[in-house]
Parts: sequence; structure tokens; C-alpha cells
Amino acid sequence: MLEEILGLVRKHEDWRVKGCLNLIPSENVMSPAVRSLLCSDLGHRYTSTDRFYMGTKFVDKIELYGEKLAEEVFEAETADLRPLSGHIANWIFLSTWASSHDKVLCVSADDGGYPGVWKEGLTSLLGLQVVGFPFSKRRMNIEANEAAELVRREKPKIVIFGASLFLFPHPVQEVTEAASEVGATVGYDGSHVLGLIAGKTFQQPLKEGACILYGSTHKSFFGPQGGIIVADKQHGESVKKRLFPMFVDNAHWNRIAALTLALAEMKAFGKRYAEQVVRNAQTLAKVLYDDGFPVMCPEQGFTQSHQVLLDYGGYKQGMKIARELERANIIADCGVRLGACEVTRRGMRESEMEKIAEFIKRQVADKEKPERMRKEVMKLVQEFQQVEYCFDA
Ligand SMILES: Cc1ncc(COP(=O)(O)O)c(C=O)c1O
Repeated sequence: MLEEILGLVRKHEDWRVKGCLNLIPSENVMSPAVRSLLCSDLGHRYTSTDRFYMGTKFVDKIELYGEKLAEEVFEAETADLRPLSGHIANWIFLSTWASSHDKVLCVSADDGGYPGVWKEGLTSLLGLQVVGFPFSKRRMNIEANEAAELVRREKPKIVIFGASLFLFPHPVQEVTEAASEVGATVGYDGSHVLGLIAGKTFQQPLKEGACILYGSTHKSFFGPQGGIIVADKQHGESVKKRLFPMFVDNAHWNRIAALTLALAEMKAFGKRYAEQVVRNAQTLAKVLYDDGFPVMCPEQGFTQSHQVLLDYGGYKQGMKIARELERANIIADCGVRLGACEVTRRGMRESEMEKIAEFIKRQVADKEKPERMRKEVMKLVQEFQQVEYCFDA
């Protein structure tokens, strides 16, 4: 049994780390030092806000250290590293500022919004009504003026910016005035773009009017899988009051220690990393577009985030393309979304993006033999096994 379990993990690692081009925009890699903290003794321990458990004197310091770093990196008044994931952070936000039958305004799942808050997700669990932003699929963005009008008309309790298919900054500033007129709380689900926000290469939601910024810490942000909430003082304190014992009992301290170190890496290297991520995504998009791929938003310069979107007209056709790519060890999703964060963290730059676009063309358009493609993909991947934008440990 032992051999079987270890063997499966080894096979996965050999394939995905040493053999694949990992282009899923929800994924990234941790530095070896951050990763090592996940295996520390902290992963065995309990603490609780009501001080029930002893033995926590160093854990308490790590928590404060992490919160302070997050406040610096996101220029926020408060931070909480305990939410277990981006999804849980959405739940905390929704249930703190809305109650049964209240309206929530966000990007609809059809327009690339996060399905986890849409009709079959958290809003349904909490008995909330969900309304979609007016949205331009051509520009892949919220229609700012119409959205402000809609806010005044519908008077939602909560407005959520951010999305899963996320190319360009959302009009936070333009809509926030209407939101404050009707007393709506404005949140920003930065799950996808958190690393770019931290690296000051995307919009700064807390400066543009959002009261609370939250999301996953493992997509464009290169921390361990988990969640985070940063906010102004008033909203941050409301979250802290409810977090325990309602949403998190024991926090995962190994993850929080790892996230603290990732925040330190982001503080030191985040700008350089985020700028390279966006340059890489833009290069990948442009070369694919020139090769005849249906890359979205050419008129807007394709992307200002880590994502490149290929429009194959839906999930079914997208899955065909994603499967085709997987045969060549190029890992994407059925969106079809391609993400530049992980390959950037491994040190790839514009010339490698040109190479990746060439691989994609040869596999999808030219239908070259997958065995041959796999060999070439693996050769490139093996030249980029290090993790960059981190401290020498
Ligand atoms: C916009 C958005 N928010 C939240 C989530 C959920 O994040 P997590 O997987 O950390 O729960 C996702 C998932 O990919 C997402 O796209």
C-alpha cells in the first residue's frame, strides 16, 4: 500500500513537474523554502482565538508577522490569513454583509464570473438573489455606466468585482460611487489576480473603493493553496469577529507560515515577477493570434493579466482542444484559458512564450505527432526546473 501511494505521487510529480508545460491560470509553484514549511511541525498543532490551547507562543508570532506583511504588501489596514481557500473567503464576505433574500451583484458565470458565487453556488446556499453585471463579451469587461445605473435601480446589498475569466481591470472606481449611495458593500474577489495586485501590476481595488479584497493565495499569487482577506479597519474587524468559530476553527498553521514567507517573497520580488507574468501572457497571446488562433480581445491588446483566452465557442469544443494539448504534455483547461504565472515563476520569458505558442500551433493546427511534441516540450521544461523570484535558501 505504501509503495502504491508513494508511487502515484512520484509518477504525478515526474509527469507534471519534469514533463509538462503547466499553463493552468489557477496554478503556480511555491519556492522550495515556502514548500518546506508545509511539512513543518506547525501542520500538527492547534491554537484557538479563545486561548483554549497552550503551546502557541511561536505560532502567535507567526500569525502577527504574516498579518503585518500582508498589510504592507496590499497596503491594507487589516489582514487575515486564516480563510482556508478563495471559496471560503467568498462565503465569509457574503454571509457577513448580506442576509437571506438580499441582492448580490457580480459577474455572471456565463460572462466568466466565478461559478462558486453564481446561481448554484454560495448565493443559493445563503438564500441570496444574484444579479449579473451588464457585460461586454467583446471587451471582456463590465459596462461601467450601465453597471452604475443598475446598482442605483436594483440596490444590491453586495457588489463583487473580480472573475474567473479575467483579462482587464474592472471599473471599481466608476461603480463604487453608486454602490455607496445605495449602501452596498463593495468587495473584490482577487483570487486570480492577487499576485498581480501584490506586484502593483494590476488595479489596486482597496484604493479604488473596494472595502475588502480577498481570494486564493495560489493562482497568480505564488503561495500555498489557501485564502486571505485584507480590508480597511472597519470591515477587517467585522471579519475577524466572525471568522472564529463560524468559518474556521483551527487554522492551518503550516500553510499560514508558508504564506507568510510567500508574502515576504512577494514584497521583495513581486513587482519584477508580476511585470514579467503580464509581458509573457501578452507575448503568448500575440504570437498565437498571429498564428490564427481565436485569441480574445485583440483590440484591447489581448490581456493585462496572467490569462490568455481562446474562444472556441464553449466548453465542449474547449475540452477537445485542452485534451489535444494534454497529449503533448501542455496542460490547460477547457476555458480555453492559458496562464503565464507558473512558467514565469520557473524563469521563462518572452522567447520561451514564442516557443510555447509554436508548440501549441504544431500540436493543435499542424497535427504533428504527439510523441515528438512531448519530447520537445519535456526538453524545454527540463531547462526551467528552478523557481525564481524567491530568496536563496
Ligand atoms: C474568481 C474565483 N474566486 C474564487 C475561486 C475559488 O478559489 P479556491 O480554489 O481557492 O477555493 C476561484 C476558483 O478558481 C475563482 O476563479
